[in-house]
Amino acid sequence: MNTTVDQADFFKTLEEKSDNGALRGDYSRCDANYVVQQDWNAYTPEQHELWRRLYQRQAKLMPGRACDVFIESLAKMDAADGIPRFDQTTEALRKATGWELVAVPGLVPELTFFEHLANRRFPVTVWLREPHEFDYIVEPDVFHDFFGHVPLLFNPTFADYMQQYGKGGLKALKLDGLTHLARLYWYTVEFGLIQTEQGLRAYGAGILSSGGEVEYCLTDPTPRRIAFDVERVMRTLYKIDSYQETYFVIRDFQQLFEATAPDFSPLYEKLRSQPDLAADTLLPGEINIAPNRRQDA
Ligand code: PHE
Ligand code: FE
Repeated sequence: MNTTVDQADFFKTLEEKSDNGALRGDYSRCDANYVVQQDWNAYTPEQHELWRRLYQRQAKLMPGRACDVFIESLAKMDAADGIPRFDQTTEALRKATGWELVAVPGLVPELTFFEHLANRRFPVTVWLREPHEFDYIVEPDVFHDFFGHVPLLFNPTFADYMQQYGKGGLKALKLDGLTHLARLYWYTVEFGLIQTEQGLRAYGAGILSSGGEVEYCLTDPTPRRIAFDVERVMRTLYKIDSYQETYFVIRDFQQLFEATAPDFSPLYEKLRSQPDLAADTLLPGEINIAPNRRQDA
């Protein structure tokens, strides 16, 4: 691997953050962009079986909970029978929105991640969780990345948003805006909700690849559900080891795209002197959107 200062830094930070002092993926074979071969033939029958179980459990939870775009794209992706071949999905994705999937060993440095997105490449982790991690994993695996993130890349507006996010990330690196920009990713791409005529639906990958949060985020009375606002999102801290305490709700993907189109430079500047908000904040005058009625699993 071609180790630059940025990369060395990346490993140092992650080693400090993780329990066993190492990232889970095999980084020995990746190129300078952290891309590897998927090596589909190396997956075992047991791994494909585990994927099928994950897929079936999760796909069953999607009706009435995931937004329509997600459900429609997932059905077209033909990924129910085992760990999919990224190349095949890339072919379909290229035609739909010009995106492609690239295989990566796991988490990649921020700069690398943003460069991929800015060039309409979505990095998908190659390894699959172990059976005892069926319900929960700390680092994203192929199930989270593929099942959670790829379906929405078939939607032209969301696909454009993701590319703009990548470009925005490259810019934020220079403007010291990353802490704030990362919250936008978290509360949209990972944990976003959308309002539909049938009620609230989830579009965030962190929700849609989770067995428990997908019902919780829509119907549990505990968390806050607040109308999406870029500045409000960027001020809000988030939890990484529990269900979210707040979800932000968009009207549609066009709103998300348009609200994030303006230059964020003045916003980063302004936010520097404003205090962060705790994850469970409801400000005076803010409306807490009513949850859906509970749907039994
Ligand atoms: N408009 C943002 C900027 O100027 C870029 C961006 C777009 C960031 C969409 C996130 C999502 O930095
Ligand atoms: Fe993710």
